[in-house]
Amino acid sequence: MKTKKVSVKDLLESGECNKEVEISGWVRTKRGNKQVNFIALNDGSTINNIQVVVETENFSEEVLKKITTGAAIHVQGLLVESSGSGQAREIQAKVLDVLGEADPDKYPIQPKKHSLEFLREVAHLRFRTNVFGAVFRIRHAMAFAIHQYFNEHGFYYLHTPLITASDCEGAGEMFRVTTLDPKNPPLTENGEVDYKQDFFGRATNLTVSGQLEGELGAMALGKIYTFGPTFRAENSNTTRHLSEFWMIEPEMAFYDLNDNMDLAEDFLKYLIKYALEHCMDDLKFLSARLQEEEKTKKAEERSMELIEKLNFVLTHDFERLSYTEAIEILKNSKQNKSGKFQYPVTGWGVDLQSEHERYLVEKHFKKPVILTGYPKEIKAFYMKQNPDGKTVAAMDVLFPQIGEIIGGSQREEDYEKLVNRMREVGIPVESMSYYLDTRRYGSAVHSGFGLGFERLLLFVTGMGNIRDVIPFPRTPKNAEF
Ligand code: 4AD
Ligand code: MG
Repeated sequence: MKTKKVSVKDLLESGECNKEVEISGWVRTKRGNKQVNFIALNDGSTINNIQVVVETENFSEEVLKKITTGAAIHVQGLLVESSGSGQAREIQAKVLDVLGEADPDKYPIQPKKHSLEFLREVAHLRFRTNVFGAVFRIRHAMAFAIHQYFNEHGFYYLHTPLITASDCEGAGEMFRVTTLDPKNPPLTENGEVDYKQDFFGRATNLTVSGQLEGELGAMALGKIYTFGPTFRAENSNTTRHLSEFWMIEPEMAFYDLNDNMDLAEDFLKYLIKYALEHCMDDLKFLSARLQEEEKTKKAEERSMELIEKLNFVLTHDFERLSYTEAIEILKNSKQNKSGKFQYPVTGWGVDLQSEHERYLVEKHFKKPVILTGYPKEIKAFYMKQNPDGKTVAAMDVLFPQIGEIIGGSQREEDYEKLVNRMREVGIPVESMSYYLDTRRYGSAVHSGFGLGFERLLLFVTGMGNIRDVIPFPRTPKNAEF
């Protein structure tokens, strides 16, 4: 009988038994005695290993010696129902080939509990652990679900540029892109670097957001989304900030702020539901791991079990309230009055810190929150100005553990108001003429938001540090792998 090459996932899920199979993978563990060895083999297709049963008398000692944790092997044998507990089926090995050895004295990933901090130092190998296998399979599933959601809902995937000359968020936290010689750049008469002589004939940077170009697309295609890397040179060394992160930015013509909030809530729930429906094995593993960690905490500091938490978000309406209402709640909170916030809430106008966001979500409302109507001073220039002259039609979605997971707004569609605001905050109106054309010609109400992909993954996986949900994290002073 001709055998077929399949994945561990296929083998474990197929109902078939008593047939010849071939499989390649990496050894997770080997245990046993003189007569029989049991190899737990994993090929990345699932968190579950397939057990390979090896009658030692059928193989040379030399081959068996090379089968150590981390080694790549190829197995041919009979897939049978397992007599042991813990697995439904196993392979009785007939042929064993060692494809690549992993010297046990040197290979860093040994079959014991490694700290996440240690694994960050060997980020190139951490994919081979159960935790990171689970995280990156879920990352894939979420990326797929995002495209599926938008495709099902009539959005077009628009590729916005990574190199731009604009600063969407106006925060000046950009990485310069240049081919000028840093030691000897051409200078203008005023002694400043002459970017006219640079590669693009102007100063350029890596994008902080695809929104501005996204708006241009939405004002013709109707509903678009971007999904790509964005770059921020902010010196934030927190568990929620990356210098290079992925953002999903839908932008919709004829959507007002309420439509925007409805979309954001529906979208997030769809993604969480998708994870529950497609990633249960990985979620169960991550949940069990978290439960172990939680045991070390005081009862009142323990958080909800992962799968329960995901279901909870799915089945509850997000609380919607204004920034002004939120400030009142925060100002009058016990936490604030007893000085427990690192940044005391003094009154209207202050920017919210993640401790405030999390207080609203975790302690006060005990569910996700959408805040609207922020002071215009703490938000970007493009947001729709409210009639009160003080606030803008912003919306931030706040999640437990994370704080802000989505930032968005209705956009200012009025040409005069937008230009005036740009002048006020010092945005060079002339170089943004292309953007203003959407307001000059066929302008209309439109809205959009940005979802931080890694922040979504923090929530779905329950991981505590954003460096552990992106394959190769870039953070200040860190771009090793
Ligand atoms: O709130 P932000 O800065 O909004 C924008 O960039 C808008 N242009 C989006 C839009 O309306 N199209 O960022 C959006 C989201 C945040 O809510 C957060 O989830 C994530 O991006 N984010 C980060 N994630 C990881 N590391 C960072 N340094 C992040 N900065 C923002
Ligand atoms: Mg924001």
